[in-house]
Amino acid sequence: MILHKFKNQADLDRAAADLIISAVRAKPNAVLGMATGGTPVGLYQEIVKSYQQGLVSFKEAKTFNLDEYVGLPITHPESYRAFMQRNLFDHIDIRAENTHVPNGNAADIDGEGRRYDEMLYQQGPVDLQLLGIGHNGHIGFNEPDSHLSRFTHKVTLKAETREANKRFFNSLDEVPTHAITMGMGSILHAKAILLVVKGMEKAEILDRTLNGPITTEIPASLLQTHPRVIVMTDCDVEYKVSHS
Ligand code: F6R
Repeated sequence: MILHKFKNQADLDRAAADLIISAVRAKPNAVLGMATGGTPVGLYQEIVKSYQQGLVSFKEAKTFNLDEYVGLPITHPESYRAFMQRNLFDHIDIRAENTHVPNGNAADIDGEGRRYDEMLYQQGPVDLQLLGIGHNGHIGFNEPDSHLSRFTHKVTLKAETREANKRFFNSLDEVPTHAITMGMGSILHAKAILLVVKGMEKAEILDRTLNGPITTEIPASLLQTHPRVIVMTDCDVEYKVSHS
């Protein structure tokens, strides 16, 4: 793991955007793994700025989003498809057919998971996977559990995750109870991973992610097993390279 610490979120957003832009400039047909939530909004804005300045093109790039709510119409502003259109896709030159978000309204959600994994397998591996982290250590919507799934699958969102995401809805009741998420296998299969963690309230879970035991009870701790993880944060944490 490589840990980059930033004094403010504006610098963090710029650096994270630059890493993604570099990946696409180095490989125009890069496959990018995308995240939603509050964390990436600023870095997506920076990517859009660079695109508008002619510094990068996404014409050949492909994207695969981590997750989507189950049962929320994609026309709902908080669906992750709508989020991606509003925050990124509508403002850059990526081809619509090259953007992939799991279909949370599929009649057969298990079948949708298989379809998504098949596409990932055919078009992947992901060159650079962007991740945020939940307060409980979830990545994608892989929630803490005694075991984790390798494939794209349906999950029941934990109460704390629905509580955290309530801020995007009018009330807790409106927050979907289920989601479909890429599994840990797909996430860890990415060639490189960029984990962005913002806000001091996430310092403790980031410390446990970086320095604690590898456990399915903190899904992000499995990132310790990946050879190319870059963490960008404004949290005051250290990455311990030895026991002492
Ligand atoms: C979103 C996702 C989630 C979020 C996490 C943090 O696609 O996969 O793991 O990254 O819930 O959300 P924010 O950034 O809103 O704190």
